[in-house]
Amino acid sequence: MQLFTTKKDLDSFLYPLRKGKSIGLVPTMGALHTGHLSLVKKSVAENHITVISIFVNPTQFNNQDDLEKYPKTLDADISLLSSVSDDLIVFAPSVSEIYAEEVASKAYDFEGLEKVMEGEFRQGHFEGVGTIVEKLFRLTMPNKAYFGEKDFQQLQIIKKLVEITQLPIEIIGCPILREPNGLAMSSRNERLTPSQRDTAAFIYSTLLEAKNKFGTKSAVSITDWVKDQFENHESLQLEYFKITDENNLQPVLEKEINTTYRAFIAVYAGDVRLIDNILL
Ligand code: PAJ
Repeated sequence: MQLFTTKKDLDSFLYPLRKGKSIGLVPTMGALHTGHLSLVKKSVAENHITVISIFVNPTQFNNQDDLEKYPKTLDADISLLSSVSDDLIVFAPSVSEIYAEEVASKAYDFEGLEKVMEGEFRQGHFEGVGTIVEKLFRLTMPNKAYFGEKDFQQLQIIKKLVEITQLPIEIIGCPILREPNGLAMSSRNERLTPSQRDTAAFIYSTLLEAKNKFGTKSAVSITDWVKDQFENHESLQLEYFKITDENNLQPVLEKEINTTYRAFIAVYAGDVRLIDNILL
């Protein structure tokens, strides 16, 4: 395991290795769990070198409290990564290393992908994500970069980012890993009480039922049904539920044969915000 905290050291290390060797990048914000490790394992299987970045990116948080409470567990992250391979490269820079002049986002036009769902409820979120991921891409110049479908909207935005910047990087989407009760694995789950973790399984069971209904019911009636499920829920608050075309993330008006649809949900369990999605 090699740990770097400066751009210069990472670059000097990678530079001589680039020739003839492929690089896989797995960007993360740390507090690693099995979901992250599945991305790391895929990268290790497909590349000579795997770089994992661990950086809690301030520009993608619209809520200061969420940023402050984001778990920071670098030592545990490194030992978890060692269980996958001894041959990994970890890049864990400070905020000033990444944002030397100003902690600010660049403006992007992601052609509307950034305006819906997470973009609507977390103002500026995807500009922050685009800014950090572009910086990480330019620094590591990977052949492939790995992103989870857990953040499916983010995955689509990153594909658009590569199109906009014309960086020669292949974006690999990876399936969602779940807890045995169906709850999507997430660093934020660490902030849930045991009873909230149990209750939050309701999010995935609702998505599964929505998927079942999608064969026979309209998107509007399923959306109403989901809202009803959460209406009087004792501990979970629905922020949004949307069924969209998975490519352009636009709402379904009338189901079309050659379109792939996906349902997206955001829910609060206390002050912890959880997101999930399912292919319909
Ligand atoms: P973070 O939330 O740490 O997630 C890092 C990567 O792990 C993302 O691509 C995310 O989709 C993936 N991931 C998280 N939980 C997963 C799960 N249960 N199953 C499969 N993959 C999962 O996403 C971010 O960080 C940041 O926005 C980042 C891209 C690093 C930019 O700051």
